[in-house]
Amino acid sequence: MSEQFDAVDIIRIKRDKGTLSPEQIDWTIDAYTRGAIADEQMAALNMAILLNGMDRTEISRWTTAMIASGERMDFSSLGKATSDKHSTGGVGDKITLPLAPLVAVFGVAVPQLSGRGLGHTGGTLDKLESISGWRADLSNDEMMRQLADVGAVICAAGAGLAPADKKLYALRDVTGTVEAIPLIASSIMSKKIAEGTGSLVLDVKVGSGAFMKNLDQARELARTMVALGQDAGVNTVALLTNMATPLGLTAGNAIEVQESVEVLAGGGPEDVVELTVRLAEEMLACAGVRDADPAAALKDGRAMDVWNSMIEAQGGDPRAELPVARESETIYAPSDGVLVELDALAVGVAAWRLGAGRARKEDVVQAGAGVRMHAKPGALVRAGEPLMTLLTDTPEKFDRAREALEGAVVIAPEGSRPDAQLILDRIA
Ligand code: URA
Repeated sequence: MSEQFDAVDIIRIKRDKGTLSPEQIDWTIDAYTRGAIADEQMAALNMAILLNGMDRTEISRWTTAMIASGERMDFSSLGKATSDKHSTGGVGDKITLPLAPLVAVFGVAVPQLSGRGLGHTGGTLDKLESISGWRADLSNDEMMRQLADVGAVICAAGAGLAPADKKLYALRDVTGTVEAIPLIASSIMSKKIAEGTGSLVLDVKVGSGAFMKNLDQARELARTMVALGQDAGVNTVALLTNMATPLGLTAGNAIEVQESVEVLAGGGPEDVVELTVRLAEEMLACAGVRDADPAAALKDGRAMDVWNSMIEAQGGDPRAELPVARESETIYAPSDGVLVELDALAVGVAAWRLGAGRARKEDVVQAGAGVRMHAKPGALVRAGEPLMTLLTDTPEKFDRAREALEGAVVIAPEGSRPDAQLILDRIA
């Protein structure tokens, strides 16, 4: 079959800082998905996009073409408003777990398609799989039924959703082209638009533990994604939130589930509660619900009731004991003072090396592995007090985890204050 365009011409246009036409973009995504553009050609094009960028019209068309590569879900028959949240990925980011049932308390359906972790950022499905019996893979019918009956579902995205992105993301991952704003924005938004949610709240992470290391980059990514959502008729808002230090006091799988359950029981770390409530308020407002009080629904057990139903509907036992790592080692404070820095990337890498994450897609994660923190920035610490506990089933991993944490902790004289603002900006 003769092709409409030549891949080398398309690469040259972007290499020379030109603009691709809508027809060229449609052909590129379609041809790559069916194998008519080779991986090495797509890798070259991705690098040209990373270096030279894309304009708004190109990004929008690229996203539409990725959506068109697969199926689109439709929740209109539910007769309820739908809302979803997407985080660009961080360390200790378990917010989806308490958030999805919390929003469902108010009659808004939450179809939360999530992923597994790769690298130092954890994956929501890996965390939930530490619950005995819980199942991530649901058919579209099972997902619809659960949304109608329980109101919230967290499950794996089916293979039919934006297949172009699956292929493209795997290629970007091994060619140093993940961190291109047009490619991140179109990757995330193609999946969210194809998923069929009516509204969307984006949690764009900023700081050492995130893709976006500074506020300007994060703002540009957030603006690009909000515009893509609005153009597609999805009511979209973004919060920019701090990922200089991990969220909460745990980074791992089972230990993050345990912390989420504490939040659903009305307790838990302050930062996890603050972000959960704020994102719930944004999701409910986007879905047209006014005067809801999500903080009260965490305190009085309504969110916990939905959580229990949501876990049971997917075969899990919400009351079962969670797996515990066989071995632990403690890291102690070297001096007295105020903890002013606890680096998110270092903690994420340590948790990953302990076995909580995977280096390759086919690796198996340890449910009990991770890092439990005993103090967060702002806390007064004394020399010799425990700062962190490292958890793993395989003690030979402790040395490499400790190495990752070298220089991660800064203790300053009493009276010092860390820069601890959690919510940095809002883009609508
Ligand atoms: N998450 C995605 O789904 N895609 C990206 O490109 C980056 C993060």
